[in-house]
Amino acid sequence: MALKLNEKFLKDFISENEMRAIEPQAMNACATVVGHSGPGADFLGWLDLPVAYDKDEFARVKAAAERIRKMCDVLVVIGIGGSYLGARAAIEFVTSPLYNTLAKDTPQIYFTGNSISASAMHDLLEICRGKDICVNVVSKSGTTTEPAVAFRIFRGLLEKKYGVDGARERIFATTDKARGTLKEFSDAMGYETFVVPDDIGGRYSVLTSVGLLPIACAGIDVDAMMRGAADARERFLSAPFAENDCLRYAAIRNILLRKGKVTEILAAYEPAAQMLSEWWKQLYGESEGKDNRGLFPASVVFSTDLHSLGQYIQQGLRNQFETVLDIRTSPVSVSVPDDPANMDGLNFLSGSDLHDINRTAMLGTLFAHTDGSVPNAVIEIDDRSAYTFGTLVYFFELACAVSGYMLGVNPFDQPGVEAYKKNMFALLGKPGYEEKRAALEARMG
Ligand code: PA5
Repeated sequence: MALKLNEKFLKDFISENEMRAIEPQAMNACATVVGHSGPGADFLGWLDLPVAYDKDEFARVKAAAERIRKMCDVLVVIGIGGSYLGARAAIEFVTSPLYNTLAKDTPQIYFTGNSISASAMHDLLEICRGKDICVNVVSKSGTTTEPAVAFRIFRGLLEKKYGVDGARERIFATTDKARGTLKEFSDAMGYETFVVPDDIGGRYSVLTSVGLLPIACAGIDVDAMMRGAADARERFLSAPFAENDCLRYAAIRNILLRKGKVTEILAAYEPAAQMLSEWWKQLYGESEGKDNRGLFPASVVFSTDLHSLGQYIQQGLRNQFETVLDIRTSPVSVSVPDDPANMDGLNFLSGSDLHDINRTAMLGTLFAHTDGSVPNAVIEIDDRSAYTFGTLVYFFELACAVSGYMLGVNPFDQPGVEAYKKNMFALLGKPGYEEKRAALEARMG
């Protein structure tokens, strides 16, 4: 197995008795997930996805990715939240956060429609100037404002550059199979469309066409990714609690929360994992943060953030724990050169590999932070391969569902996301929001 939970640094914070006491709750929550008997059970399509995915759609994704790779210099992926975070996480994790600037035979991939920043849009349009472009617009609802605005801009750009017929060959829409503005519009325009399954919410959708098309465009082995998820599914749905790292992770989070550790910090020692952390924050934040409950998911990249947030973690308010991602191997080797003069006093590191030094920094930090009363769970993974990414995705998704049920919330809805949208529509003058607008204006004085 590419993933293992190391509980060594939790020993001073969670007793065996506590784990034994919470085991039935974790097992019940898992049975509720598997039995489709809890709230939100209509959104459990991700549970069997790694073994039951639509093979025709999967083949179409790979074929479209092949065409996109040949057709363009730049692929613009338009989407927000669950409609972009997983793809971006996978591309940066498996390749590099510098994917776009490294030499490669795959297109540059930019993500937009995930903010309403004029500067971000302007700069991307500048990057696209003179380049051959394809667009993958991703929106399950087909109505989300940020991607809809970005799509209007890029559709206009492509139609101007290639004509309506040329643009049709270069626009790919990933959306609901039958409903929504984007689906209707795409059918009317003749774009190739891919499906966000009805029973999979945005934040659980990375292993559907939502994530797979951009990921395949980056040349990543999506078959291996699905195999990693399938192996994780096999293991975590069958192993007994004592050997089930996924259920134990869900249990540990709940024990620590009940002890007042209300913030979970995902700590990776690898910049390539930064977007994975962003994906993880959405998964856990949107799934658990409701009904006045839930852990607050935060993230750091060490050792960088040891020089910013490290002080707080070591000595600040004791309401947090860390989940550390230990990536055991590096795809490359870079060693510290020897310097006979040793003016910087660093010769004790001569010949040492940076990856080994990095993991030593991790070990030192694990000791320091646990000495500072911060519990640390360690998720050990072999590497940053596509297979391991698939394993991690399934591990976190299942643990999130189980943990959400243990917490007593519906881990598959996100009613709170609507509040800002309604206010924004009212303030922007969208028809139908007149009453709300008047109420907000009265509050502004
Ligand atoms: O997890 C979710 O459901 C959300 O984050 C959505 O992914 C996000 O709001 C985008 O929605 P849509 O894909 O409908 O545009």
